[in-house]
Parts: sequence; C-alpha cells; structure tokens
Amino acid sequence: MIFYFTGTGNSLYVAKKIGDELGEHLIDITAAMKEKSFVYRFSGDEKIGFVFPVYFYGVPSIVVDFIAELKIEQNLEEEVKPYVFGVVTCGGGIGGTPKMLEDLLEKQGLPLSAVFELKMASNYIMMYQPTGPDLQKRILISTDKKLADIIAAISKNKQDEGSKRKKTFLTRVAYPLYVHGRKTRLFYADEKCNGCGKCEKICPVSTIQMANNKPVWTAKQCTHCSACINRCPQKAIQYGKKTLKWRRFENPILK
Ligand SMILES: Cc1cc2nc3c(=O)[nH]c(=O)nc-3n(C[C@H](O)[C@H](O)[C@H](O)COP(=O)(O)O)c2cc1C
Repeated sequence: MIFYFTGTGNSLYVAKKIGDELGEHLIDITAAMKEKSFVYRFSGDEKIGFVFPVYFYGVPSIVVDFIAELKIEQNLEEEVKPYVFGVVTCGGGIGGTPKMLEDLLEKQGLPLSAVFELKMASNYIMMYQPTGPDLQKRILISTDKKLADIIAAISKNKQDEGSKRKKTFLTRVAYPLYVHGRKTRLFYADEKCNGCGKCEKICPVSTIQMANNKPVWTAKQCTHCSACINRCPQKAIQYGKKTLKWRRFENPILK
C-alpha cells in the first residue's frame, strides 16, 4: 500500500509508477483525511510506502497530521515486519526529511526502512517561478531513470545506511518557517476568475470556500500545496503581486 499526497501531480506520478510496477494499491492522503480513514490492515506480502513533496526541507503539514492518526493493523499470527519506504519529490533537495519521516513513523510503530529523493519540476510559485516547459522535459527524462532505480531498490527491500538520516541542518533552519508561515493572507482571485469552483474542490485541507462565485480562504493557514494557484484554469489565483506574471505548473498526469 502506498500513501501519497500531491499538490500539483508530481508525487501522484511517482506513486502511480511505483504502484503499477510493484502491484501496490494507492491511498490518497487528502481523501483519507477528509473521510477520517486512518486504520489500514497490512498483509505480510505488501510494502508500506509514503510518497509526497518536500516543503521547506520537511514533511507537508497534511502528511504530518495523517501519520499522527495512522494505525496499521496486522494479524498477530503473521509476524512479518513490513518494509516501509518513503519517496520524497523535490525541486532541489530534501535536507533532513528522511530523519523527520523516520521520527513521525516511529511514533506509530513503523520503522522506516529506506527513503529516496527524487528531483522533479518545482511548483513553489509562492516563492519562485515554477520550472518552465523545456526544463520540465529534461528533468522528466532523469526523473524516469532515477525512478526506475528507486523501484528496483524498493522491490529488493533495500535498507538505508544510517548516514542518510543525519543531514538535519537545513530542516532545523527552514522547517519552522513553514510551521509558523504557510499563511493564506496573500491568496486572492483576480478579475479573470469565472467562479468555476475548481479551487474549492481540489483544496486538500478544505480551506477554500466559494462565496458569491469567488474563492474565499477561510483559515489563516493551509498546507500551502500551491494546487489552487497552479491548477486554476484561468490563472486567476494570485499570491501577492509577484505571481501575476509567472507561469503555472501542473504535472501532465492531472490534465
Ligand atoms: C510550500 C512548498 C515548499 C517547498 N519546499 C521545497 C524545498 O524545501 N525543497 C525543494 O527542493 N522543493 C520544495 N518545493 C517544491 C516541491 O517539493 C516539488 O515541486 C514537488 O515535486 C511538488 O510535488 P507535487 O506536484 O506532488 O505537489 C516546495 C513546494 C512548496 C509548494
């Protein structure tokens, strides 16, 4: 079973490839959170995976909240220790995310076997202009190659070396900015908004609600996945002023 979270499709692309190749079914963390589905039964012949984007060199808040509630049940007579893996998609690097994921899963009694980093297009439009189409194509070629190696490693139950979990500096510096940031204050819909309501539907944390045919951000913070702004068909959602001129990013798997 592969638990995945995605804002703009990269992590879904990865989860689906791993699931298809290894015959593991996918569980959408967004849907699970909305339905409050936290209890899953593990059968000895499957693996347990977590696929999600890195945010500020750490784990997205929705994934943190999901893992905190997660309960994996196993038949007592089956004493198979699950192979637990993470694949973290990123635009540049994942810093101390492996250690953070290890700590979160340990609390749920799930020892993490291996974490893999996978560089893909960057969607972080609230900070930078997302990766352009030419570079996206080039990145995808290397992503697919690396993903094939990752799938081979997962299929052989490869274990991490301890050193991989020690690079925590970037996370210690950057992640608190996410915890205390991820504000919704700067999001708004401009005059291009035609009230289609897609943003309300795709918001993973149900922060957006339509009022008078315009989106309203109803909480002070959200998970900051960038789906509303990147996936708006009219490019009508903005974050402050700088996104007015910037391109949007959406992995073709969502189109
Ligand atoms: C709030 C936010 C923070 C991000 N922080 C990082 C980061 O620390 N390092 C990095 O390499 N990419 C970062 N990114 C880029 C995404 O991790 C990357 O584009 C990812 O593949 C998007 O996955 P998705 O399409 O499944 O949502 C960030 C993106 C967002 C929206």
